[in-house]
Amino acid sequence: MIGVFDSGHGGLTVLKALRDQFPHLPFLYLGDHANAPYGNRLSEEVVTLTQQGVEALFQHGCKLVVLGCNTATSIACRSLQQTWLPNSQWQDHNVLGIIAPTVEVATQTPWGVTEPQYPQMHKEDVIGVFATQRTIDSGVFTEEIKKRCPQMQVVGQACAQLAGLIEAGAPEDALDKLVGDYVAALLAQLDGKFPHFAILGCTHYPLVEPLFARHLPPSCRVLSQPKIAAQALDHYLRRHVNYVEGCTAGSALKLMTTGDVELVEQRLVIDWPGRPAFQAYNSP
Ligand code: DGL
Repeated sequence: MIGVFDSGHGGLTVLKALRDQFPHLPFLYLGDHANAPYGNRLSEEVVTLTQQGVEALFQHGCKLVVLGCNTATSIACRSLQQTWLPNSQWQDHNVLGIIAPTVEVATQTPWGVTEPQYPQMHKEDVIGVFATQRTIDSGVFTEEIKKRCPQMQVVGQACAQLAGLIEAGAPEDALDKLVGDYVAALLAQLDGKFPHFAILGCTHYPLVEPLFARHLPPSCRVLSQPKIAAQALDHYLRRHVNYVEGCTAGSALKLMTTGDVELVEQRLVIDWPGRPAFQAYNSP
């Protein structure tokens, strides 16, 4: 079984794309609604909560967990992979973040390549990154993109309130106004230049992608992560079949939340036919 973790239900955008890509693999989703949003939390809290979430999914039988959440990825993924996992009882398990595949697509450079290469070395694209405060403060998108493509210009815009309002089911006109303000703030940082593309670096933002597209200049391509995550997992599993070898064939899907099940179901802004209802998280 493959685990997908997010601070709330934004990660369902990623889960949905993974399901479409792998209709016969069982998935287990955990949304940490009780502690969402993560985006304005202290880094230490994000690390602790992410580790707890990943461990919960391991305990439920997932050998591999995809962090749908950019905030969790930017703050916690590296330390989970490099420090926690090797010293835990889960050494044959793994956790994958969502930022590496996004950077690969943005820079057209494999993650393993950390030096500028020809012709990427001469790429001069301007990239706008929209993400939570914590993700923008981490500087991870800028750092990882510029490592590979030093001439690219990366401009980050924190959208501090957006994920929380989406999660709370705010009306579209309120979200539209907020997205318009964030886009205007990003464009103001660019002194008249237009971004060639924009990264929606938060699992919740694909839910309002049409609003971003409405406010961004028409020439700006929107890079949204769910499809990128699905393709990345496809490549990963081809090289690491061991993570799915024991999986029973079938399309089992279970959704768990640390929050209030009724409230989560009421506020859900993404759905698809046949989606199972959320269940309260129980430790196994
Ligand atoms: N899911 C988180 C992300 O992708 C954002 C929501 C939150 O702040 O919890 O960054």
